[in-house]
Formats: sequence, C-alpha cells, structure tokens
Amino acid sequence: MSAETLPIEIQRENMVREQIEKRGIKDARVLEAMRRIPRHEFVADEAKNWAYSDSPLSIGDGQTISQPFIVAAMTELLHLQGNEHVLEIGTGSGYQTAILCELALQVYSVERIPKLARNSEIRLAEMGYANIQLMVGDGTLGWPDHAPYDAIIVTAAAPQVPQALLDQLKPGGRLVIDDRTVPDDPALDALMNRLDLLHDHSHVREYSAAEWVAFCESVGLAVDVVEVYIRHRHLSSLTEGVAQEDVAGIYRLVEAMTPEQASALHLERRDDGWWFDHHYLLVGAHRPA
Ligand SMILES: C[S@@+](CC[C@H](N)C(=O)[O-])C[C@H]1O[C@@H](n2cnc3c(N)ncnc32)[C@H](O)[C@@H]1O
Repeated sequence: MSAETLPIEIQRENMVREQIEKRGIKDARVLEAMRRIPRHEFVADEAKNWAYSDSPLSIGDGQTISQPFIVAAMTELLHLQGNEHVLEIGTGSGYQTAILCELALQVYSVERIPKLARNSEIRLAEMGYANIQLMVGDGTLGWPDHAPYDAIIVTAAAPQVPQALLDQLKPGGRLVIDDRTVPDDPALDALMNRLDLLHDHSHVREYSAAEWVAFCESVGLAVDVVEVYIRHRHLSSLTEGVAQEDVAGIYRLVEAMTPEQASALHLERRDDGWWFDHHYLLVGAHRPA
C-alpha cells in the first residue's frame, strides 16, 4: 500500500512521527494539535492524497499551504501556553490558523487575497473555532485594533520586519517569520531577487540570514533562532498565478543561468520541467521585556 492510500488517520500520525518529531519538535501541545487537525480539509480535492506529504502544496492564486514541519517549527518557536493573543500574517489555507486557535486564547489573522480569506473563514467556522477573527488587508500594517499581541507569526513574504508589527508586539512578546532568503553569493543573490520580482511585483528584496540578524538587532529585537533551509522545487512554484510575460521572463532567466549558478542551485531538467533549490529561512526573535 503506498503512503497516499493508507487511512487518513495513519497518514497523519506518520506525518507527525516521521516529519516532525524525528526532526526535533518537542512541544507536546504542538504535536498534539498536529495530530488532531485534519490537514486534508485545508487543501483542494485533487491535492487531498498528498495532504500529509512532506511539502508545501498549492492552494490556488499562486499561494501554498506551508510544509507541515515548517508549521510545527514556527509554532514551537512561539512558546504558546494557551493564554495569548496572537496575530498571524498570511492566513492562506487557514491550517496554521487552526493550530494557533488550538494553542492560544485568541487569534487574529490577516490575508491579502479575499478569496483565500473567505474560504478559510468558512472552513474554520465549520470546524467550530470561535476564537478567530479574520481580516482582508495588507499584513505589513498588522492589525492595530487588537494590539498589542503576545506573539506575531508571519508566513507571508516579509521584506524585513515591518515597523507596524514591531509596534504591535508586547514587550516580552515573540515574533516568528518564514521567508525566502538568498545564498551567500552576490551572483545568486541578484538572480534570486530578479526571479522573485517577476513572481511577485510587490517583492522588495530577499535578505540573507546575516542581514536578517543585523536588521532584527538594529530595531531592538533579540534573535533566538535563524535557520536557513533549502527546498528543491519545481519552477511552477514561481510561475503559478503569474502573468504570461513574467512567466516568459522567469524562463529566460532560468535558461540563461551560468553553469556555476546552475550547479550551486542544483538546477535540473526533468520530464515535467525545471527544478532547482529555493532558499528559505526561519527567524525567531523576541522583544526584550
Ligand atoms: C506561504 S502562504 C502561507 C499560508 C498558511 N500559513 C498556510 O499554511 O496555509 C502565504 C500567505 O500569505 C499571504 N500574504 C502574502 N503577503 C501578504 C501581506 N502583505 N498581507 C497579508 N497576507 C499576505 C499570501 O496571500 C498567502 O496566502
């Protein structure tokens, strides 16, 4: 029996054991929430067979439901005890939101794409979560009406830490961000930024891990963790939902990579198209009390 045809409860248990516990996540409340929440309810019908696989999945509009391990790692870094007010930027499918609803007192979540926000709102209500408020808007502005927050989690691309989010974080509060990053190599750095600008015109710049630490410290945040992780991904993660002329630009850049760039990014042509390494990072920080 292949992994995708096992009963859904067993797939979920395997996900928690193999992808999350074995990689070092220890917070018992986080593990329990991930065991309980039906991730397959947060993805499209055609993706349900892969809902418990070790990867992000498309949720339409060029967006993804985050990889299970990243959801667990980010949540663990928030150190939630159950009495917190949490702000989430980037609701997406609402899966991370559901985990937060299980682990915190009240969750406020901001999503810029109305359709995703509406679907998540309906889904979370149907699942019985009453401690969530959702807003359509630009998350870089936070949600001042309910500030200050004990914890802020940013799963949307964040060009540095927006000042509004810092202002809305309580002293002693925690901030966790997942974002794309760039390898420590000026030529790759420039290439990744050009690719990302074609993928998303609102993109400002991808920062290296060292730049992230320097930035956090310059605004008075104490950095607890900075972890770079690499995912070998299909080019469609950049082209999905993108205008045709920008897709053509992305292809031109990929096909013009130098042998050094191609080798550093593990660029490969498979039957289903181009694959290469994308660099991401997790930043966990707190505002000193
Ligand atoms: C990687 S997805 C994460 C989704 C969510 N964590 C999940 O697992 O389903 C990032 C989400 O952030 C949203 N987003 C990106 N920039 C945003 C912004 N400035 N304000 C609010 N949402 C934003 C995207 O539309 C997308 O839904």
